[in-house]
Amino acid sequence: MTLNEYLGQLDALAQEAERAFEQAQDADEVEAARVAFLGARQGRFKALQKGMGRLESAERPTAGKKLNEVKRRLEKALQQAKQRLAGAAAAPDSRPRLDPTLPGDRRSLGRLHPITQTIEELKDIMGRLGFTAAEGPEVEDEWHNFEALNIPLEHPARDPLDNFYLAAAESSGHGALLLRSQTSTVQIRVMEQTRPPVRIISLGRVYRPDTADATHYPLFHQMEGLMVDRGVTMAHLKSVLRMFATSYLGHDVHIRFRPSFFPFTEPSVEADFRWNDDWIEFGGAGMVDPNVLRAVGYDPQEVTGFAFGLGVERLCMRRHNITDIREFYRNDVRFLQQF
Ligand code: DAH
Repeated sequence: MTLNEYLGQLDALAQEAERAFEQAQDADEVEAARVAFLGARQGRFKALQKGMGRLESAERPTAGKKLNEVKRRLEKALQQAKQRLAGAAAAPDSRPRLDPTLPGDRRSLGRLHPITQTIEELKDIMGRLGFTAAEGPEVEDEWHNFEALNIPLEHPARDPLDNFYLAAAESSGHGALLLRSQTSTVQIRVMEQTRPPVRIISLGRVYRPDTADATHYPLFHQMEGLMVDRGVTMAHLKSVLRMFATSYLGHDVHIRFRPSFFPFTEPSVEADFRWNDDWIEFGGAGMVDPNVLRAVGYDPQEVTGFAFGLGVERLCMRRHNITDIREFYRNDVRFLQQF
């Protein structure tokens, strides 16, 4: 073997070994390459080292120098392979890990007002019973707030002291304007625009000049319900209210009707529901008065209907044990945060 052949073999070995170390995927493969190339007994470098004895003595210093150089290359390639794999193994550790034992980092994202939440839930429940949500204006005229609801001019409910009449109030052909005092107005608005059958609810704000105390506030919310069709009876009213109360309160609820009076229903009742062994006033209800049906052009001989009106705040207060209606309107985050 000539010196040149020997040096050529050493170069070839170095290149092959470097490629093997570079391509090693894990510690086992690095170790296999180490044994194959640098192994003290069977390693291919060792074999070439031994082969140096077959060279002329004058050639040996050059060969020896090359041997040292190749050995350093192999050792360097081995070190680099080890470092590369150690780096890859360490990488996942340096990423932030989820430690489920750490206390949570709670973000305050804001939330819907409890009344808004209640309204959403009531719409949902009534929606499942087939009632569509309808809306009407908060600034109303006397026709929709009173007249069409069978509340004539001389009726005490129209007293200026009990209503928010608006100053510039001649306007509409339908009498003075006022902030609506009840959502019953929406019954009229819907019936004026649709033929029976009608099955709607309306949820929204109403206004009355009451002095604020634990149970009164000049602004509050009502849910109005109206169903008009052929053959609607009081039994339908009771079933719907009972299903509603059962859904909202989450257990089987009993309903009681007490005789009452509202100008727009005949007969009229106060509906109570049973709650923790008490009877709780729920709201007003009744069969739509024939005068109301006539006012919107319906024929009372042909269709009948029931209606009801409930206080949203009252329902929400029951559910959450809230004792002062004013809490809803103070905008104190400590209160609002609890919902
Ligand atoms: N509008 C009545 C009120 O504000 C509540 C009410 C009673 C609504 C009976 C109705 C009803 O639809 O039938 O006090």
